[in-house]
Amino acid sequence: MIVLGIESSCDETAAALVNEKREILGQALLSQQEHKAFGGVVPEIAARAHLEHVDEMIADAVKAANVSLQDVDAFAAASGPGLIGGVIVGVMAAKALALALHKPYIAVNHLEGHALCARLSNDVDYPYLLLLVSGGHCQILIVKDVGEYERLGTTIDDAAGEAFDKVSKMLGLGYPGGPLIEKAAAMGDKTRFSLPRPLLSSDDCNLSFSGLKTAVRKLAESYAPDGVLEHADIPTQDIYDISACFQDTVTDCLCRKLKKAIGIFKAKCPEGRHLVVSGGVAANTYLRAALQKLADENGLIFAAPPIRFCTDNGVMIAWAGFERFQKGYVSPLDFKPRPRWPLDENASKAAGAGGVKA
Ligand code: KG4
Ligand code: ZN
Repeated sequence: MIVLGIESSCDETAAALVNEKREILGQALLSQQEHKAFGGVVPEIAARAHLEHVDEMIADAVKAANVSLQDVDAFAAASGPGLIGGVIVGVMAAKALALALHKPYIAVNHLEGHALCARLSNDVDYPYLLLLVSGGHCQILIVKDVGEYERLGTTIDDAAGEAFDKVSKMLGLGYPGGPLIEKAAAMGDKTRFSLPRPLLSSDDCNLSFSGLKTAVRKLAESYAPDGVLEHADIPTQDIYDISACFQDTVTDCLCRKLKKAIGIFKAKCPEGRHLVVSGGVAANTYLRAALQKLADENGLIFAAPPIRFCTDNGVMIAWAGFERFQKGYVSPLDFKPRPRWPLDENASKAAGAGGVKA
C-alpha cells in the first residue's frame, strides 16, 4: 500500500511516498528562499512559489520511488492549518490526482503530520505524550490514536519557534531563527543573563513566550546609544551569550510544564510509555538532550523524528495519510482547505473535519 503526501502549508513545497513497511520510497523538498530578505514568510510569495513547484516535487518524489502514479493507493495533502494560498495549492494537486486516478484523497491536518511522524522512524505506540513545537504552534498533547488528541496545554501567545525567529531577528542573525540561534548558543554562556520564565508558577500546562521575547528585546536595545533596536551594536560574544540564555530559558519552560504534563499523562494513561517531541523546534539538539533527560528521570522513553523530518516535509504528511488510510479514513473531494484547524477539535471524530470512513 503506497500513499503519496504533499506539504505546502508554509514555506516548504514537498512530496513523498511511504508504504505499509514504514519505508520512505521517495521524497522531494524545496525550501523557499524568497522569504529570507523579509525576515519571515510572505504568504502571497509562498503561494506563488508552491504553485510553481508543486508538480515538479510530486514528479521528483514519484521518480525517486521508482513507481508510477498508478501504483499510488491514496493521495494525501496537508489541508490546513496554514497559509491558505499554499494549502489550496497542495490540496488541489492531491484532489486532481485522486480524481484522475480514481483513488481516495485524504485531508491531513498539518499538525497531525508532525504529531505522528515519530511513529515512522521509531517504535512508538499509542498513547503517548507529545510536545509539538513549531513555528506556529506550541502544545502539549496526549496522542491517543490517529485523530484522537487531548490537549493538556498550549502557548497563550507566541509559539516557541516564533520566539526563536523573532529573537534571531533582534540579534541580527537572520531567518529562520531556530538553527541560527542554536549555532550561536553553542558558543555562548547560558548563565550570563537572567531572563524571565513567564507562567511557570501557574498550575496548568500552558506556556507563554512573549514576555521572554520582550526581555530579549530590551536587552538588545540596551546596546544602542539611542535605545533603538536597529542601532544596537551587540558584540559577537554577547550575541552568543544572549542566544544561549534564551535557548536555555525556552528549554527550561518547556521541560517544567512537561513535567506537570507527565504527571497528568501517567494518571490518565498508565500504559503510556513514550515522551515524543516534534515540529521544527524539535530539531534543536539542546532541547532534545533536555527532553531525553526528563524522560529518563520520569521512566518514559524519549522519541523524536530524525532532525531532517522535524521541520516541514512531505514524508510526515504521507505517513499521517497512510495511518488515516489504514484506518479507512478518507476525505470527500469537496473538503474545504482550512486556514485554522485545531488538532483536538473533535476528539470523537477520528476522521477529522470533513473526513468520512471509507
Ligand atoms: O514545523 P516547522 O518547519 O513549520 C511550522 O509548521 O511552523 O517549524 C519551523 C520553526 C521555525 O520557527 C524555526 O525557527 C524552528 O522551527 N526551528 C528551530 C530549529 N530548526 C527549526 N528552532 C530551534 N532550533 C532549531 N534547530
Ligand atoms: Zn510544521
